[in-house]
Amino acid sequence: MKILGISTGTKNGNNDTMCRIALEEARNLGAEIEFIHVADWNIEQCSGCVACSRGLVMGKGMICTRKDDFKALYEKMVDADGVLFVDPIFESGATGLFHAMCDRMGPGHDTGMLLGLNSKLQEQGKEPLDHKYFKQKAVSFVGIGGSDWAVRTETDHAMLAMSPGWKVVNNEYFSWCKDVIMQDDKVERMKEIARNLVEAAQDMIDRNLMIFDKENDSLSYWKGTPGACPHCNGNAFYIHPGTTTAECELCGLRGELKVVDGAIKFEYDPACEHHAHDILSGKALHGKDIFENEGRLMNLHKDPEFQARKAHYTAVIEPTPSPSKNN
Ligand SMILES: Cc1cc2nc3c(=O)[nH]c(=O)nc-3n(C[C@H](O)[C@H](O)[C@H](O)COP(=O)(O)O)c2cc1C
Repeated sequence: MKILGISTGTKNGNNDTMCRIALEEARNLGAEIEFIHVADWNIEQCSGCVACSRGLVMGKGMICTRKDDFKALYEKMVDADGVLFVDPIFESGATGLFHAMCDRMGPGHDTGMLLGLNSKLQEQGKEPLDHKYFKQKAVSFVGIGGSDWAVRTETDHAMLAMSPGWKVVNNEYFSWCKDVIMQDDKVERMKEIARNLVEAAQDMIDRNLMIFDKENDSLSYWKGTPGACPHCNGNAFYIHPGTTTAECELCGLRGELKVVDGAIKFEYDPACEHHAHDILSGKALHGKDIFENEGRLMNLHKDPEFQARKAHYTAVIEPTPSPSKNN
């Protein structure tokens, strides 16, 4: 079993150390461990060029125009059975570096899209993607903050697992943690998170669990406190103004917020469950939407009316050049 720890903190800072604490525990349980300090790697921001989506739509494969280390980082994650992310809390949520990884994980590695690519490859009589890209894996997230401003953290983090469809085991944050490695309860919790990750990864290995397997959707490896969203354990909701209608910011399910026995309860219509982004039907639906919309836009580029509008607005004003970059 391989457990990969990924830290986005400063070199040998608290996040690196907490990640290593968990990795040591995983190694004690027999796992092979690897540690990546992401700031040492060259991870560029997603440019938004959508070459990845188009590559999948056109059956060309997994493409990214960024020539940096993300592909290698992704392959490290693919090879691992369990991945632990430890990320400093910035402005109550994930760091920019984490968001960059999350965007890069986006459409190009979304299971719904990859399954769409496989259908295209099959149509073209080509080899499908290697099964390793559909192997289920256990993922946990820990955010570490210097204060108690933190409530966006879990949602930001779990989003990274949403595109590939990996199973989240623990997702939590530690506040008031400038001296975290001296806080024994946090150190012990980190070890427990490692044990949970190893246990979940072992079960997935034993089952040889693939994301497209029938049983995948019904299996939960969640070891945290049950979240307000009974579907994905998310705790952040968008409340549609002036209504009790709310949308889970993580799995996208829409439902009603009610007070039941003194606590807020989120109830969704089971008939809408197939839309949820954390199950295969939702991923397939989302993939189909992207395939259709990306295809439509590609055709629109040949439309004279579209070309005329684009030319008109482009002529309105040139962007101010960067003072430091040649572009
Ligand atoms: C730009 C920035 C924003 C921060 N925002 C928060 C915050 O919103 N909440 C919080 O608890 N800590 C915040 N912090 C503190 C960091 O989470 C803390 O410095 C970090 O966990 C230290 O990790 P390291 O030792 O691994 O680098 C912020 C730090 C920086 C640099």
